[in-house]
Amino acid sequence: MPYRLTVLGTGYLGATHAACMAELGFEVLALDVDQSKIERLRRGELPIHEPGLEEVLRRNLDSGRLRFTTSYEEVAKFGDVHFVCVGTPQKKGERAADVSYLDAVVESLAPHLDRECLVVGKSTVPVGTAERLAEKLVRLAPAGTQTELAWNPEFLREGFAVRDTLRPDRIVIGVTSERAEKILRDVYAPLGEVPIVVTDFPTAELVKSAANAFLATKISFINAMAEVCEAAGGDVTQLSAALAYDERIGGRYLNAGLGFGGGCLPKDIRAFTARADELGAGHALAFLREVDEINLRRRARMVGLAGEVLGGSFGGRRVAVLGAAFKPNSDDIRDSPALDVAVKIAELGGLVTLYDPAALANARAAHPQLGYAESALEAASGAEVVLLLTEWQEFVSLDPEDLGAVVAARVIVDGRNALDVELWRGAGWHYRALGRP
Ligand code: UDX
Repeated sequence: MPYRLTVLGTGYLGATHAACMAELGFEVLALDVDQSKIERLRRGELPIHEPGLEEVLRRNLDSGRLRFTTSYEEVAKFGDVHFVCVGTPQKKGERAADVSYLDAVVESLAPHLDRECLVVGKSTVPVGTAERLAEKLVRLAPAGTQTELAWNPEFLREGFAVRDTLRPDRIVIGVTSERAEKILRDVYAPLGEVPIVVTDFPTAELVKSAANAFLATKISFINAMAEVCEAAGGDVTQLSAALAYDERIGGRYLNAGLGFGGGCLPKDIRAFTARADELGAGHALAFLREVDEINLRRRARMVGLAGEVLGGSFGGRRVAVLGAAFKPNSDDIRDSPALDVAVKIAELGGLVTLYDPAALANARAAHPQLGYAESALEAASGAEVVLLLTEWQEFVSLDPEDLGAVVAARVIVDGRNALDVELWRGAGWHYRALGRP
């Protein structure tokens, strides 16, 4: 392999990128400032739930190709290409993104860079960040213009992180030199035939914001249709199935329900509108505020519907909540629609008992006021209503008779339009869902 790689930041993106690059045959050194996280990773333990990733991590620790450190000096000595994978969370009380972790990485790494190398940003950033960091890098690095920045946004989905990294739909590289382009083409060559789009910095940054804006808009579009269906007596699941046959529309990201959450879509569309405002182009993205509002209204509607089936009040009523993660196959509870609903119902006096196959520990730590159970059946035991809020396969394949045997009343609200209505109604359940009669 022509280059030695480093990865700065070992969260979702960084841990996956580091393990997968080692899997491709590169020698990789990954850094985090969190000593305990690095110790766990060295032992082959992942701080997150991501199917398939732990195997890749362990295999490459064993082969010696993947190592972890907390030393910037070591990283600078080791690497030819440094991938920056730190988070850009939403600023408290603002829509804008907080890019201070990126600045901190450049400020910590650059003073040790005394030879030719490429620093590659992968984090999702407000457009204009790359140009600013490129200037900072060259200014702070002893090697000066022998160091260079490139921008290479990452599109991986949680739950499919390994697959999305090793078999991406496309690779976008924003560069200012042919040398940087060549290095990144070489680095990704082991992936085989993947379309590569080479752009300038602003376009590369914008591709990521635009992709997430499009996905969020598609989800909120179908959820807006769900609102209209609710008003008109239509069925949004049939509507979306019919739309999906049109290849121009397509059926993916067209599932109506409780809407999107997680560490990316919500904060990224907010940051995108904030940045557009700064650039004087806020009007162009005004619709994204509506996309956000439609999305949040689904959570309120879910609480309303649950209250409705209980006859108007939550006070002292037993509510089983199935799901805490923002989506199935993840333990991530950041901006989780499911947890938001559970917390709101508890605030309204409901006696909530929650179960999730992977996110229980995270949910418990964040919201100790809720009740928790170790299985779906335990959560549903004695419940007057069951709410399905994250469509884990474990919940979708629940037997309505098994669940019916433990609840106080056979009443279920399907927040993800994930259950077989005929099956549940056939077993005597009062079945309600978002966007359908
Ligand atoms: C997303 C993007 O897909 C990814 O490309 C980007 O890099 C990061 O953000 P992720 O946050 O892992 O990835 O989640 P994703 O699978 O896209 O789902 C986002 C949310 O939308 C989830 O809460 C999911 O439940 C919801 N969703 C998705 C719907 O409500 N309906 C759908 O049809 C699809």
